[in-house]
Amino acid sequence: MLVMNYFERMKEKYEKLKNKKDVMILSIESSCDETSVAVVKNGREVLSNIIASQIEVHRRFGGVVPEVASRNHITAISNIYKEALETAGITNKDIDAVAVTYGAGLMGALLVGVNFAKGLAYTLDVPLIAVSHVYGHICANYISHPSLEPPFICLMVSGGHTALLQVEDYNKMTLLGSTVDDAVGEAFDKVARVLGLPYPGGPEIDKLAKSGENKYNFTVSKALKNTLNFSFSGIKTEVVNLVHNFSQRQEEFKREDVACSFQECVTDELATKAIKACKQRGLKKLVVAGGVGANSRLKEKLQHLCEENNIEFYSPVLKYCTDNAAMIGSCGYYLMKDGLSLANLDLTAKPNVDL
Ligand code: KG4
Ligand code: ZN
Repeated sequence: MLVMNYFERMKEKYEKLKNKKDVMILSIESSCDETSVAVVKNGREVLSNIIASQIEVHRRFGGVVPEVASRNHITAISNIYKEALETAGITNKDIDAVAVTYGAGLMGALLVGVNFAKGLAYTLDVPLIAVSHVYGHICANYISHPSLEPPFICLMVSGGHTALLQVEDYNKMTLLGSTVDDAVGEAFDKVARVLGLPYPGGPEIDKLAKSGENKYNFTVSKALKNTLNFSFSGIKTEVVNLVHNFSQRQEEFKREDVACSFQECVTDELATKAIKACKQRGLKKLVVAGGVGANSRLKEKLQHLCEENNIEFYSPVLKYCTDNAAMIGSCGYYLMKDGLSLANLDLTAKPNVDL
């Protein structure tokens, strides 16, 4: 059978790639509202990283509309692919493997990337590597910091995940704690929405908070105090109720004070627990990953606490913090080095992926 033959051939090719001097990976990311294709050499050198953002399209709906996202990915992907090759100055003959985000994310959006990747890998007769979006976010740090190596503690903060991980090796990690309800990015987006700020809310809150005061002194529930788990739905609801009460009573309030108070509360919680994880596990390196890792106040607090506790702090440069294909290419390279995640042509998209 043709499908079997492809996979059997790829097993051999994949094994050989481990020892190839320069490995060029073409990577694809389409899990949410960014269509991105990158060319990454040896896991760390980004030759191109083209991103077509759909933010403007979804902004008028106040959030990502899944069907609209899939349709936009379909129209964008082949041009983005061509542009990625041109910018990298390579042709498709130079591609050693194709890496693709298979989850977590929006089903229809992921399917566009996965199917494009399958077609490409098959026609070029190169291995296909299935990459988890969440682990991709961690690898954004390998691109930004050429000498960074595990072990370290990772604070994973995105629109879909909030967790603390002990990264023992490139492909070996232990979950230390995670959110019991909302992801922190979700809370940022919801609070922004109730304040009438455009989607995506995180960067808007970040900006607005700079001119505000921590007037409301919000706190998170004490129930998880002695754990490395998080809960953000309580604070989110508290902010939403506060704003609704103000509007019902037609009382004036400053949006910047609400933004600042919310941000102070959640960034305190994230930073404190990240340092606690480093101390508990005896690790002197802390890495932040995911879209909320772009938050200026969170980075400021982590930097400060790391200095105080003699811990090295790493965060990806801004363009690699939010969704991009370069981080998927880096992750694909390290999976290949350990002979993991080689996919067959029956690879499908998964909306949820366990940490
Ligand atoms: O990692 P990401 O791009 O996508 C997911 O994998 O979810 O993260 C998106 C999230 C959104 O919730 C967005 O509002 C948030 O990251 N975000 C920020 C900032 N930039 C993006 N949150 C707080 N401050 C920022 N500067
Ligand atoms: Zn992401």
